[in-house]
Amino acid sequence: MGLPNIIAIDGPAASGKSTLGLLLAKELGYLFFDTGIMYRALTLAALQRELNIEDEAAIGTLAETVHIDIETPSIDDGRDCDVLLDGQDVTWAIRSDEVNAYVSDVSVYAAVRKAMTDQQRRVASGNKVVVVGRDIGTVVIPNADLKIYLDASVEVRAQRRYREMINRGEEADFDEVLRSLTNRDRIDSTREIAPLKVAEDAVVINSDDLSIEEVLAKAKELVYHV
Ligand code: DC
Repeated sequence: MGLPNIIAIDGPAASGKSTLGLLLAKELGYLFFDTGIMYRALTLAALQRELNIEDEAAIGTLAETVHIDIETPSIDDGRDCDVLLDGQDVTWAIRSDEVNAYVSDVSVYAAVRKAMTDQQRRVASGNKVVVVGRDIGTVVIPNADLKIYLDASVEVRAQRRYREMINRGEEADFDEVLRSLTNRDRIDSTREIAPLKVAEDAVVINSDDLSIEEVLAKAKELVYHV
């Protein structure tokens, strides 16, 4: 059997999915597609328009009209890609605390999920691709050739996120990071449509005691031996 053409990586916030996905895509020469970017860009669009995040109809309409592009990086500032929201570069803006605080709420709405899922399937179809998210193996691409669920305890994830922020010279409060991740976990895994859960045929990797190199090595074993 050949290599898997479509690799789905799901898991909770800050589990290291994007880092793993990017490394794996580079290793294989595949397209890397981080679907969380789309939910983040939509959330930013809603905040910029000062929409009420509880206004499901307005956010749903926005999801159907807003234009989100993910392109190869145009600037060498540590970014993995350019994120364009109706042509405006929002690559770093989508990582703000404000977007973090609201993105899980925006991701609950049915119209939002439909619009994003349709677009994600379009990008993935016909490509050799590593797709990262919450519902890729369960809903977006249930026939992915390889499904990985990357897990880690919320304390370990908060610790890693906290260190990243400190290393970037940002102000960070560990308890606040832990609270924010716990809240996102709760919303992401209890929502009615496409909640975060392990696909039946996914391989679970728990990274609590693993370095990124060790996680990558485990993933490569799966890629070359499915
Ligand atoms: O992976 P991330 O932290 O960038 O994702 C941001 C949010 O987007 C996450 O809290 C839930 C939502 N999301 C989703 O619902 N489905 C996906 N496939 C990807 C992200």
